[in-house]
Amino acid sequence: MRTYQTADSLRKALPRHKSIAFVPTMGALHAGHMALIKAARQGHEIVVASIFVNPTQFNESTDLDAYPRTPQEDAALLKKHGCDFLYLPSVADIYPTGFDTSAAAGIDFGPLTATMEGANRPGHFDGVAQVVSRLLAIVEPDTLVMGQKDYQQVAVVRAMVQRLDLTVRVLVVPTVREPDGLAMSSRNRLLNPGERRAAVLINRQLSAVAAGLAAGWPTQPLEQFALAALGDHELLDPEYVQIFDGDTLLPYVDGDNVRELVVATAVRCGQVRLIDNRIVDLLHNP
Ligand code: PAF
Repeated sequence: MRTYQTADSLRKALPRHKSIAFVPTMGALHAGHMALIKAARQGHEIVVASIFVNPTQFNESTDLDAYPRTPQEDAALLKKHGCDFLYLPSVADIYPTGFDTSAAAGIDFGPLTATMEGANRPGHFDGVAQVVSRLLAIVEPDTLVMGQKDYQQVAVVRAMVQRLDLTVRVLVVPTVREPDGLAMSSRNRLLNPGERRAAVLINRQLSAVAAGLAAGWPTQPLEQFALAALGDHELLDPEYVQIFDGDTLLPYVDGDNVRELVVATAVRCGQVRLIDNRIVDLLHNP
């Protein structure tokens, strides 16, 4: 694996005649990221990963400061799993003086960012769009590989790709879970043992909601029950439990036909904010 710290040096090194899959990350890598690398390997000659803790997508400075940074372990893991190129830039390399970031940050994502993470983290998706568009311009991949855990982020990135008329394909990889069901996240390592035990309830409640929906139960009581069950735990503070149409991200209206029905949540677990979601198995909807 070859590591580059500047866009210029990475651009020069990348073999443009080969198919490239790109996995953008913020580091503190885990098995979920390695599933992205594995998916990237399939059908592509070159796998590129980036590690960049993007300051413009953090709406709380304490969250940015606390975000785990483990570049050496990350590089070793990427190498072991067959990544070819690692881009490890500085803030100045991603956002050089005078760099025009308006192309992506200026997009109005409408309802896609009006709820859930968009509503609870002002500016977050503008920052994500800004950095992902910049990274895509540098790497110019055929395929962008992202995780389902950030369901709304994927929808926003897809919309950005469409609005900017980019040709990159967006490949989404299912969430990888710990044996007890907790979604893998870089933030999990910030949990103390008690919080880690409490965090298991997040997936349990999402599974209960998904099972309820599949059995035909109405949306609102399911959301309220899960919210109350999570809030009942002294270490958990849920921000939302939302059932929505996976294409529009609009709240689901009972009885509507949707291609993909999803339930998502954000829960503060001590100082750590965790998100997770479940796609409902509509095939088993009676
Ligand atoms: O999902 C993430 O880790 C980040 O939001 C991303 C896509 C790398 C952009 O900073």
